[in-house]
Amino acid sequence: MNNPNSSEENRGQWGSKLGFIMAASGSAVGLGNIWRFPYVTGENGGAAFVVVYLACVLFIGLPLMWCELALGRASGRNPVGAFRETGGGIPFILTGVLCLAACFFVLTYYGVIAGWTISYAISQVSQTSLVFKEYTADPVYVLPVFALFIVLTIVIVRAGVEKGIEKWSKILMPLLFVLMLAVIIRGVTLPGAGAGLEYYLKPDFSKIDGTVVLKALGQAFFSLSVGWGLMITYGSYMSKKQNIVSNGFWVGLADTSVALLAGLMIFPAVFAMGMNPDSGPGLAFTTLPAVFAAMPAGWVIGTIFFLLLSVAAVTSSISMLEVPVSYFVDEKKSRRTTCAVTVGVVAFVVGIPSALSNGGNEWLSNIELFGQKGFFSILDQVFGTLALIIISLMLSIYAGWVWKPKNVIAEIEQGCPWFTKPLIGGISPAAIWSVFVKFICPIVISLVLFSKLGLFDREKLPVEPVPKEQKSPEDNASSPTQ
Ligand code: PHE
Repeated sequence: MNNPNSSEENRGQWGSKLGFIMAASGSAVGLGNIWRFPYVTGENGGAAFVVVYLACVLFIGLPLMWCELALGRASGRNPVGAFRETGGGIPFILTGVLCLAACFFVLTYYGVIAGWTISYAISQVSQTSLVFKEYTADPVYVLPVFALFIVLTIVIVRAGVEKGIEKWSKILMPLLFVLMLAVIIRGVTLPGAGAGLEYYLKPDFSKIDGTVVLKALGQAFFSLSVGWGLMITYGSYMSKKQNIVSNGFWVGLADTSVALLAGLMIFPAVFAMGMNPDSGPGLAFTTLPAVFAAMPAGWVIGTIFFLLLSVAAVTSSISMLEVPVSYFVDEKKSRRTTCAVTVGVVAFVVGIPSALSNGGNEWLSNIELFGQKGFFSILDQVFGTLALIIISLMLSIYAGWVWKPKNVIAEIEQGCPWFTKPLIGGISPAAIWSVFVKFICPIVISLVLFSKLGLFDREKLPVEPVPKEQKSPEDNASSPTQ
């Protein structure tokens, strides 16, 4: 980014196409791909989930990413300002506020997990093994690395993104990619890995239900950084010459490839080692050290891997911090540095309960709400899944029906003239995109949301009571939560 502090309103612009793609993929590729994608896949049935996930990325995530970028670039504002400047009423301004909340609250637990990656890097280099359950339950270990990670995030946002992150991501992210390939090769050649490949690549479509689709859609939004207002903010730093469609496409491709590779890295190893694919957020942290231990000079690879994972987490966390910061800079005319420090410190304090909810504190670890157990899982369900889905629904309604596709298309066309040319059987990509944004996205997202909220549950309708002995087993199995 060109010095964000120098322009009159503290607003900057990406230096180049590559600058944008690096920063936006840096935001998209993160713990969501390597830590979250495998365990959510494992909890939701494996390959069938992956198929639904890919459909969500292609048909819902990508069209909405273009909307966000266009809205940001057209308005030159943060999420709240973008909806307001383009004529959105109160419900849409509130959607902008929800974007700030999602970024902030996810940052509070994202930093905790990122702290774990730092500890795992230390454990690899010192060749000591960490027992996941015991380590995550110990505040003495977890809190300092969480604090360290937040400080790192603040320092980088303050120091200016262009000199630090943009330069280093160009070297470090390809290195992460190469290292993942090495770990995959070791994983798939372990005896017994075949069952894992089958679990991950051979879909059993009977496993798909409302919860699976909701989780896949939520994961697509989480991972692509769509539905957070992040792409609105990053779009606002984009010049009119840049191509929203191809830029968005590259970001989506990079993000999806890393997620798919992460699955290949984890599942064969999980099965080879007789572990359980649905063991939750600890999956990557328990599996990977075992794979490293089975590699020659494994601790070196393990150390570099966890360090790179921390870097991937930082390039995401700085962008999460950037969204609320851009709001305060635009709307409240605050200084960028003051905002970054304040929001970061508050995020640390608010994140302490999440850090303690993996065994550190009994009440926080066992509290149940929305079908989730533990403070951290509840936050992840509310802000890391539901909020993103609601924001994306509002965004598609806004772009399709309120701000209108013609305005979005006019914005996208600048920098992408072929968008409105009749390329596909006489139909323009813009026309196809309009159908997705006006109809397919809002309908699919609403159906998923309503099914999750239980509106389609047959047992909730006032039906004739079924005599006990005739009750079919499915009736008991179809609980709305996992
Ligand atoms: N996409 C990031 C990940 O996969 C998370 C993120 C979302 C970061 C939104 C910033 C903004 O880890």
